[in-house]
Amino acid sequence: MTGKNLNMIEFKDVYKSFEDNKVLQGLNLAIHPGETLVVLGRSGCGKSVMLKILLGLIPADSGQVFVEDTEITEIAEGSLFAIRQKIGMLFQGSALFDSLTVGENIAFALREHSKKSDSEIKEIVKKNLSFVDLEGTEQLMPSDLSGGMRKRVALARAMAYQPQIMLYDEPTTGLDPITATTINALIRKTQKELGVTSIVVTHELDSGFSVADRVAVINEGVILEIGSIEQIKKCDNEFVQRFIAGPK
Ligand SMILES: Nc1ncnc2c1ncn2[C@@H]1O[C@H](COP(=O)(O)OP(=O)(O)O)[C@@H](O)[C@H]1O
Ligand SMILES: [Mg+2]
Repeated sequence: MTGKNLNMIEFKDVYKSFEDNKVLQGLNLAIHPGETLVVLGRSGCGKSVMLKILLGLIPADSGQVFVEDTEITEIAEGSLFAIRQKIGMLFQGSALFDSLTVGENIAFALREHSKKSDSEIKEIVKKNLSFVDLEGTEQLMPSDLSGGMRKRVALARAMAYQPQIMLYDEPTTGLDPITATTINALIRKTQKELGVTSIVVTHELDSGFSVADRVAVINEGVILEIGSIEQIKKCDNEFVQRFIAGPK
């Protein structure tokens, strides 16, 4: 590749099908450094698949995906680890290890993959729990926590590696409105205080609009519109307008 990619993440003409289910059909999307881009789309339209391709968890059929200057669709499985370390992911169901304490959940990857000492790791766990307003919960088990608390622990775990990029898969789905507001505020705080670049995928309009610097609307495997919230609200794409208007 020649020239520097000024985008933090870029999808170029990405296609992905599962047998005859055409999911991504020429996805083009660029995420700027430091921004929070919200990808809005109906359930089943391919948002999670898009994030999994970015993480190298599933292969694209064709097209390219870049993280800064590295084309992840091209590199060997072995080299993906270095890229994944730059990326933190908040999975839809939080995906905590139920048999580990809160503290052990956050420490897990650091114990496995870093050379940090026990006391350094303990300090990181403490700092990240405090970031999500859950100080002192190290000894609790995931089953002791509410859905919102589990999300916050999962966020603390994702942040433990100090990723440059955060991916949020339906971060507020299934949460009550007050808890959803707390999670949205944390997504904002993560961006502001740590300068991370974020992609939030969601089918929840209000939640998406409350954290977005820019919004992209996806349908039938392509991005229909991308822009500021104002631009999206004003655009003349019929599908986008129906999506914004919500169910009748
Ligand atoms: N591993 C898989 N194997 C087969 N089909 C899949 C797989 N993952 C996702 N799909 C299908 O791809 C489509 C998009 O799924 P997904 O990205 O999870 O949607 P969403 O936008 O709700 O996150 C769905 O039709 C889903 O059934
Ligand atoms: Mg999904």
